[in-house]
Amino acid sequence: MRVVTLSAPDDVDGWRDAARGLLADHVAPDAVVWQVGDAATDLFAATAAGPPPAPRHDAAAPAMRVPRAFLDLANNAALHQDPERFALLYAMLWRLRATPRLTDDHADPLVRRIETLAKSVRRDIHKMRAFVRFRSVSDDAGERYVAWFEPEHHIVRANAAFFVNRFASMRWSILTPEVSLHWDGAALQEGPAAERGDAPEGDPIEEVWKTYYASIFNPARVKVGTMLREMPRKYWKNMPETALVPQLLATAQARESGMIDKARARESTVGDNARAAWEALRDEASACTRCHLYKPATQTVFGEGPVDATMMFVGEQPGDQEDLAGQPFVGPAGQVFDRALAAAGITRAETYVTNAVKHFKFEPRGKRRIHAKPDAGEIEACRWWTEQEQMLLRPKVTVALGATAARSLFGKVMTIGRERGRELRLPDGGAAWITVHPSYLLRLPDEAARASEYERFVEDLRMAHAALG
Ligand code: URA
Repeated sequence: MRVVTLSAPDDVDGWRDAARGLLADHVAPDAVVWQVGDAATDLFAATAAGPPPAPRHDAAAPAMRVPRAFLDLANNAALHQDPERFALLYAMLWRLRATPRLTDDHADPLVRRIETLAKSVRRDIHKMRAFVRFRSVSDDAGERYVAWFEPEHHIVRANAAFFVNRFASMRWSILTPEVSLHWDGAALQEGPAAERGDAPEGDPIEEVWKTYYASIFNPARVKVGTMLREMPRKYWKNMPETALVPQLLATAQARESGMIDKARARESTVGDNARAAWEALRDEASACTRCHLYKPATQTVFGEGPVDATMMFVGEQPGDQEDLAGQPFVGPAGQVFDRALAAAGITRAETYVTNAVKHFKFEPRGKRRIHAKPDAGEIEACRWWTEQEQMLLRPKVTVALGATAARSLFGKVMTIGRERGRELRLPDGGAAWITVHPSYLLRLPDEAARASEYERFVEDLRMAHAALG
């Protein structure tokens, strides 16, 4: 029996090195016990009866190529609190030798179990990014921000780079029951585990979060179930804005009726807050795992444009070029869109442009990636982000480019032929127009039809623009 001792519960590098060595030595999973420090983590090996270890490996044999998909899965799953995680991952690595495409077999019980671990870890990483709340304290060197967070898994170190990038110019500490992180504006240091009482209680910075939260709370779309799913109650005690929820719910109806007027009378200070809130939202979306589309895509392609734009355009989803560039509508459809905007007298730089689905969905064909239409579940999963963009911007006019955008904005199937050419109302009361997607124009085989449809498209944009008044 081999005993592998890892230095910490998130010692993924240690696991990887040990796993490589074991594999090279042909040590079967049943013959390995994994532990962290002195504690055995490996209930799996202790309970699983298996064949004796295989003979030692021939040193001249080539090293196994580990598929990228497995490494991605392992990097997350290894941070789970499940004591069997390291053994399970090694068992999967072992099987990959004979079945290199094992990661694609989502029906396989081991693959499924590891995928579930990885998903739970990704969610925890996302929750930490979304729910850490800093309180300010003063020390000899000036202002410092301290937050308390209780993760479910061993994710704190893995999340450190995110907080360093996001709050690079602040001095901050994040205290957790496993480890503390301290950033002094130049270097990151680790400290020991902390207790809740080590972090300060509420202070004025909570007002920032409360203002942000109240400004993105849409009284016209109160869905308590969804709210609880996105912001589980266990996080509430450390989040100042949750104190607002009962009051916001209670006054939702009254606020709804005043919302549109209020949006139009926004003050400039709110504009600054809105930019900061938008940046926070974009950063959060960059780690989105709300549906499976994030897996093969290069990155989240979030909306782009000024947060005080009065006109917002919503497309379907990023295409191949947008996926690589990280910006919406920069490929062939984007060129048609830009030309039509100019013809309608609209300056793109003054508009906000986004997509209903924020990851590129495609089917690989040889070296090419062929656009695949997002399905209802994917549109619904991503709708959350578009709603947040809408709530932050509160544009005077929103234009849905194509059926997917219309479905996302209206929450139901809309027929373009029937609905285009007139002003519609979104569920939150905002004005909306529906027109075709620019790529529809690119697909028309007949040149005359293409020219006349293009003119209709420009006319739709002109009408929507005129509705700004
Ligand atoms: N099509 C879209 O809907 N959006 C883009 O960003 C590009 C193409």
